[in-house]
Amino acid sequence: MKKIRLLTPGPTPVPERLALRMAQPIVHHRSPEFEQVFARVREGLQWLFQTKQDVLVFASSGTGAMEASFVNFLKRGDTVIVIDGGKFGERWGKFAKAYGVNAVTLKCEWGRPVEPGAVEKALRENPSAKAVYVQANESSTGVYHPIRELAQVTARSPAILVVDAISALGAMPLPMDEWGIDVLVSAGHKALGLPPGIAFLAAGDKAWKLNETADLPRFYFDAKREPGSTSRCRCSARKAWRKSSSGMRGWRGRREQGWKRSGSSSFRRAPRRR
Ligand SMILES: Cc1ncc(COP(=O)(O)O)c(C=O)c1O
Repeated sequence: MKKIRLLTPGPTPVPERLALRMAQPIVHHRSPEFEQVFARVREGLQWLFQTKQDVLVFASSGTGAMEASFVNFLKRGDTVIVIDGGKFGERWGKFAKAYGVNAVTLKCEWGRPVEPGAVEKALRENPSAKAVYVQANESSTGVYHPIRELAQVTARSPAILVVDAISALGAMPLPMDEWGIDVLVSAGHKALGLPPGIAFLAAGDKAWKLNETADLPRFYFDAKREPGSTSRCRCSARKAWRKSSSGMRGWRGRREQGWKRSGSSSFRRAPRRR
């Protein structure tokens, strides 16, 4: 078989051992067997996100989880602060336009991270802002934004911090609960080394509070239609939208084949067993 080497920021190559695991027959998404796998997957994701909150799983690309982070927490006419440091930062503004949300855009020179002071100033000048949207790693320029500091800034305001960690989770430290990140979204096809088509979102209490009044149109990406362990997510695993059982197997495989948390609380692959 021709071996293709992907040298892109994502999708990243799927290790052969995981590809083989995902080649097993599909499990029906309304079967007890699937329910068990799904429960273990969600537990593993809480470990990855370093959160006690439910991690929701969408059968979508990463942009689906970004969209979910808009529609589940905002109302039409709300103001948000979006950090635009590259191609993916630009996308926040496009969601805002599509959903009738006012975006105050903080443009960063490409290749430079946002200054926490600039976000603090924008929040002072826009006291009704509901959220700050940012990438952990802006993949188009390779810049890490200072997430820990931004979480400290937003914690002092009524706004939530929404972090797109699509290319960052698993590669850089992002302990959601410890740092106070309100919404964290990610996807399988970057640091996790899975095929595209599986995306994740976890939200903290401050964000769930906003969910109570959010009125943007949503259906497939409605967080409350997803299964979870709390009464907020009211769907049972068996009734959930169809999930990628192969993607789930891949993520389980990732865990079982030895992902470890490193001292800096990012993750590394354990040495290959001989
Ligand atoms: C930081 C970041 N955000 C969003 C996306 C969009 O994800 P997707 O292409 O899976 O929709 C990417 C993909 O490269 C990304 O790197």
